[in-house]
Amino acid sequence: AKPVTTHTLQAMRAKGDKISMLTCYDASFATLMERAGLETVLIGDSLGMVCQGHDSTLPVTIQDVAYHTAAVARGTRTMLIIADLPFGTYPTREEAFRNAALLMQAGAQMVKLEGGVWLADTIKFLTERGIPVCAHIGLTPQSVHQLGGFKVQGKTSDGATQLHADALAVQQAGASLVVIEAVPATLGKEVTDRLAIPTIGIGAGPDCSGQVLVMHDMLGVFPGHKSRFVRNFMDGASGIEEAVRHYVAAVKDGSFPAQEHCF
Ligand code: KIV
Ligand code: NA
Repeated sequence: AKPVTTHTLQAMRAKGDKISMLTCYDASFATLMERAGLETVLIGDSLGMVCQGHDSTLPVTIQDVAYHTAAVARGTRTMLIIADLPFGTYPTREEAFRNAALLMQAGAQMVKLEGGVWLADTIKFLTERGIPVCAHIGLTPQSVHQLGGFKVQGKTSDGATQLHADALAVQQAGASLVVIEAVPATLGKEVTDRLAIPTIGIGAGPDCSGQVLVMHDMLGVFPGHKSRFVRNFMDGASGIEEAVRHYVAAVKDGSFPAQEHCF
């Protein structure tokens, strides 16, 4: 198999082929996921919750994400590797560039940042300097205290208007990909139809260009709160690799997410 690039994802979107993504934090799981046919892995700052045991992503440092990114990179040859810029590491475009460069040097091929309109200038600065960007809009967990909890976004007409504006702004700024988290399925579809770049949904309905879940959630090993959008793919699987195969197949054939996983 050939390495997955931003061009691969754009071509998949054009053909209507769904993109499968999971979070991943180490080399062994990266190798397993690649074998199971996954296209792209995210070293998410969710590692603060699922690996470190914190109750939010806020304590995660750039060194933490770089460490896990280097481990994942050693375990895969073909999957596109995306790494999260953690909370507090992109207050200015210059700081964003320095921290993104650390993740790229650790093995990332794209960085993800949480924000929309306000972040456009930073996204432009990174993409002009050779760093592909995935934007993350809708429910942005680094803003959990500002948002007043892990709440569904875009439910009001103002909220929906804001999501559209955020999506268009990050695309215009040069983002290659947009993660949309926890919004009504109808809104996930509208924004996906409106954009020229692929959208990756998590609790954003079946009509996004692809889907992402946190690995520990889809394997049923995270002991904390289980979001509505999570499905445990260990149910009916003989092992972890088969669970990941079932996830990839369900994303591709559109059976995940089902209505019960949507807002
Ligand atoms: O950190 C993470 O795992 C994420 C995904 C949920 C998109 O940002
Ligand atoms: Na994240």
